[in-house]
Amino acid sequence: MDKYTLKKEISKKIYEQKKQNKKIGFVPTMGALHNGHLSLIKKCKAENDICVVSIFVNPTQFNDKNDLEKYPRTLNADLEKIQNFCDFVFVPDENEIYDTPDNRVFDFGNLDKVMEGKHRAGHFKGVAQVVSLLFDIITPDKAYFGKKDFQQLAIIKKLVKDYNYNIDIIPCDIIREESGLAMSSRNERLNPELRKNASEIYKTLKKSLDYINIKDPEQLTKYVINTINKNSDITVEYYDIVDDNTLKPIKKWDESKNITGCIAAYTGGVRLIDNIKYK
Ligand code: PAF
Repeated sequence: MDKYTLKKEISKKIYEQKKQNKKIGFVPTMGALHNGHLSLIKKCKAENDICVVSIFVNPTQFNDKNDLEKYPRTLNADLEKIQNFCDFVFVPDENEIYDTPDNRVFDFGNLDKVMEGKHRAGHFKGVAQVVSLLFDIITPDKAYFGKKDFQQLAIIKKLVKDYNYNIDIIPCDIIREESGLAMSSRNERLNPELRKNASEIYKTLKKSLDYINIKDPEQLTKYVINTINKNSDITVEYYDIVDDNTLKPIKKWDESKNITGCIAAYTGGVRLIDNIKYK
C-alpha cells in the first residue's frame, strides 16, 4: 500500500494506472475505520484493479465544533487495518484539500432540506464539497458508500448526475455489531452499557416491520419514536418514513414502491443514525 499526502502525487500515480487501462475503485472515509468500512474496502478491491482509500476528517461537514473535536482519529491503526486491501491511501491535510476558495453553491432540491439536512445545517454542502474535490483528484470508475448514511447516498447520486461525473456509485449494505447496532466510528464514544442500550434502536426498527399491515406510516412513526424513547438513555431526534428517491415523508404505504424509515437518536451525547427498508 502506497501512502500519499499530496494531490498532485496521487493524481499522477492514478493517471499512470489509467493509461494501462486499470479500473480505479475509491472509498472515501474520515478514518476511525471499523468493519463497516472494511467491507466497503474489500468490495472495492474485489471489483477494481486499484483500490484507493482516502482518510480525511472533513471540517466543512461538521456543524458542531464539539463533534469535530471529538471525532476519533486513529490513523496508525487505520493504515494497519487496510494495508492488505488498499493499493493507494490518500491522507491529505486541510490546506491540501482546501487550497483554493470554493464558492460553489449546490442545489439538491428537497434532498438536503429534510432529516439530517434539517438538523445539521450545512452538513451536506460540506459532504458534497469534499466528495467532489476527492472525485476530481482520484477520478475513480466506481465509488463505494455505505447505506447507513442513506441521505448522503441520495445526495452523492444527485451530485454525480448534476456534475456529470462518469462514476458508478456503489451502495453497500449496513454492517452491524452482534447486538444489531449499526457500525459507526461514533460507537467508540459509547461506554459498554450505552453501547448495549443503543442496540434498542435497531431492535425497534426491525420490530416495526411486523406492523406495516396494521399501522399507517404516521402511526408506525409514533410507535418507533415512543418505543425507543422509553429507554431513558436514548432520545430520538427524528424518525421519518420516506420515499427512497425524493426523501419526502409518505403518508400511505401505496404512495411509493421504495420506502425507508430513517432515524437519528442521541445516547450519552453521541448522535447515531440508522435506517430500515420497508419496501
Ligand atoms: O461518510 C463519510 O465518512 C463522509 O461523509 C465522507 C463521505 C467520507 C465525506 O467526508
